[in-house]
Amino acid sequence: MKQEKINAEVISVKPDKVKISVEKLEDFKIAEEDLKVGSYLQISDDNDIILIAIIESFSIDLIEVKKEDEKGSLYYDLERKYIIEASPIGIIEDNKFIRGGDTLSIPPKRVQPAELDYIKKIFENSVDEKVKFCFSKLSGNKDVNVPVNGNLFFNKHLAIVGASGSGKSHTIAKILQNAARIKNEDVKGLNNSHIILFDIHSEYKAAFSEANILDVSNFVLPYWLLNADELEEFFLESGDRNNYNQASVLRKIITENKKIKNPGKQNIYFDSPLYFDIDEVLNCLVNLKNETINSKSPDKIMIIDESYSLDNGKTNVDSGIMLSEEKKIEKFFEKVYEFHPTKNQNITKGNYADGTLDKFISRFERKIKDNRLKFIFGKEAKEITFADTLKNLLSYIEKKQSNITLIDLSGVPFEVLSVTVSLISRLLFEYGYYYKKHHQEIKTPLLLVYEEAHKYAPKSDLSRYRSSTVAIERIAKEGRKYGVTLAIVSQRPSEISETIFSQCNNFIAMRLTNPDDQNYVKRLLPDTLEGVTGMLPSLRCGEAILIGDSVIMPSVIQIDRCEDEPSSNDVKYIECWKRSWMEVNFDDITDIWES
Ligand SMILES: Nc1ncnc2c1ncn2[C@@H]1O[C@H](COP(=O)(O)OP(=O)(O)O)[C@@H](O)[C@H]1O
Ligand SMILES: [Mg+2]
Repeated sequence: MKQEKINAEVISVKPDKVKISVEKLEDFKIAEEDLKVGSYLQISDDNDIILIAIIESFSIDLIEVKKEDEKGSLYYDLERKYIIEASPIGIIEDNKFIRGGDTLSIPPKRVQPAELDYIKKIFENSVDEKVKFCFSKLSGNKDVNVPVNGNLFFNKHLAIVGASGSGKSHTIAKILQNAARIKNEDVKGLNNSHIILFDIHSEYKAAFSEANILDVSNFVLPYWLLNADELEEFFLESGDRNNYNQASVLRKIITENKKIKNPGKQNIYFDSPLYFDIDEVLNCLVNLKNETINSKSPDKIMIIDESYSLDNGKTNVDSGIMLSEEKKIEKFFEKVYEFHPTKNQNITKGNYADGTLDKFISRFERKIKDNRLKFIFGKEAKEITFADTLKNLLSYIEKKQSNITLIDLSGVPFEVLSVTVSLISRLLFEYGYYYKKHHQEIKTPLLLVYEEAHKYAPKSDLSRYRSSTVAIERIAKEGRKYGVTLAIVSQRPSEISETIFSQCNNFIAMRLTNPDDQNYVKRLLPDTLEGVTGMLPSLRCGEAILIGDSVIMPSVIQIDRCEDEPSSNDVKYIECWKRSWMEVNFDDITDIWES
């Protein structure tokens, strides 16, 4: 009988570790299933309670045993004993699995590999059918589906980590494909899932043919929605010692321009999401830089062709136009003026003519005229409304509604990537906030997926990444309250802002080879499963450790294959190189390059 062959005993029990000694490993088996790190054991006591533990390590003990030979003389021999260490994860009582619990009475009576039926039942019954969400199988046994509680899975932030090539992109594709397709039976047409995917390498188009795809050629992200931090990150040189000065000028002029352009609105601040005219702001900056004033009466500005005049070579120092600061700025928006040159004692340079604005202005001008930034500063950015901007991002566009918005960031110049991601993230977070404020409840919860998150939410304090890190950290901390959840995907988890990672509750940890990353992930994982996390470097493609509130117990899983696959970054070198020589049209390439 199979049971008699099981020749194992529990040799130590601690709350977090059970040690088992096995005499013959080949007999410690059920139905020919292979035992591995990550397999489950069942340990029972006299009271019909069964403890389920997950195998963390195997080792062999060589023990000296006294033996008698045929002639009756004693000799010593070495015998092998297999030692299995396992972590208890829960108990089965009255046919129900309860996570945790240490009610096993000592000493435990029996230990054996967990029966497949048990395991299947645990996973199947672990989640109420209505909220079941499934995208993987147990790695040790492909017959066992591993469902998660979809509400807990999407309600709490998710981290997917793994070295390049471990299967992160395919995992994302699988999860999102399933998420976009869930619907109640009575739903005809589109369901109500809302997913926004930041695609940095342009690899997901292939996986989501029905997604609304936004890239720099067709999406509009109006500059006037940038907030103070983003504007400063955009236009100010970090570390420039005139930074403060420039920031305060920018603040003042933009606020004034917003007031002029939105006459009906009260309480207008620098940060208000209201239209302003960027070209007028540039006019004003240039005028401030060039202005000259009457030395005796600094409120008088010496614009040529205004009331100022020169009389027979004598300077009429009382002339000039007298304007309050606001009026002056208002006038300076209109066009670039010419000013009278400075003159000893009579006409001096204006307050901003000390050179502090020069570099800033040329930088400003370069940015707003940069063809690559047309999606932010172009004509459409001036015309689009606030609501339409949101509709685009959330794919609420008529006849183009979609569950997934794919934001292809591959064409966004590196130096503005952070600001772009920040603006979009912030708008989506604030949409969640104001939606809830208006409706008092959340009916259109969002999932924001950040591929290669270490690229825009790094740990470093570099100001170049400040705004996107701040925006994503804010969602990590507060997003849940407003139905905005993050999925952070990264091959360098140890380089991501800790604030963001520490807020993640569900982890899909795939193969990780870098020791820093392994240690970092081990430290973050909520369960202390040393042995299982030790598997990180040896997981196969698509294999992962799934840990978190949404899953009944920590599991080593194999992610199901996705239907349409993301396009891999792997270049088929050998196949390419084996072909005959290919001509290249260099003019076409340089044309795109230059434009
Ligand atoms: N669930 C899976 N099962 C089997 N193979 C997979 C699975 N997911 C990914 N792979 C394979 O692993 C390779 C890398 O996948 P990819 O998703 O591009 O990894 P990453 O995004 O981590 O770099 C691909 O060739 C893919 O076919
Ligand atoms: Mg990838």
